[in-house]
Amino acid sequence: MKRGDLLYEGKAKKIYRTEDPDVVWVEYKDDATAFNGEKKGSITGKGEWNNRISIHFFEYLGRHGVAHHLVKSLSATEQLARKVTILPVEVVVRNRAAGSLAKRLGLEEGLVLTQPVVEFYYKNDDLGDPLINEDHIRLLQLAEDQQLAQIREEALRINELLIKRMDACGIILVDFKLEFGVDTAGKLLLADEISPDTCRFWDRETKKPLDKDRFRRDLGEVEDAYREIWTRLGGTAHV
Ligand code: C5P
Repeated sequence: MKRGDLLYEGKAKKIYRTEDPDVVWVEYKDDATAFNGEKKGSITGKGEWNNRISIHFFEYLGRHGVAHHLVKSLSATEQLARKVTILPVEVVVRNRAAGSLAKRLGLEEGLVLTQPVVEFYYKNDDLGDPLINEDHIRLLQLAEDQQLAQIREEALRINELLIKRMDACGIILVDFKLEFGVDTAGKLLLADEISPDTCRFWDRETKKPLDKDRFRRDLGEVEDAYREIWTRLGGTAHV
């Protein structure tokens, strides 16, 4: 498989064409942004950790029957994925209060939620990715009803699986964001990435954040946190 033209460059990844119209070449970058692009920086090694961590999670979820876009790993920072049209809806699942939920509802950071909370955000940079509900999704025709039902069910199942995987590494899965896409055959697939950029991971004993909050909130030891997640998942740290 050869890398073709650049199709799209996002905040954290570059997507290239391949000779197969149904497959894209994904390259993870070290660039980091937060607060809708207002804060910019670079995290050394992030491209490698996120690529490796995301591949690990997608393969794990795939073994448990989750349909996803990953085809195979190519290198430390690259992977092949099925070409999908991403639905413009970010799906957030929360197990504890943190971040925007804690702020919006005045909840104490770390409060254990009595049941997982699923939220939808409209992927729209100009509007700052606003929180939306299922009626808004219908109104804006961002997804079909049946896709939305499938997404909700799959997101909760992924939550159960990721909680279990992280618990085995001594880590609390506070919350995370998922994106779904539709492939060229019309199948709904889990897409994008699952990494410390898109999840909140806290050490179970110390409650120390091991994720992008270290960058967002200038907590220091950012690279160490990404490396720590990879090593706890059983990977070998060599950046
Ligand atoms: O900021 P907020 O508390 O809404 O984030 C919830 C979860 O979604 C966090 O794990 C965060 O990393 C993730 N997220 C993301 N991309 C965004 C917004 C949030 O990965 N654009």
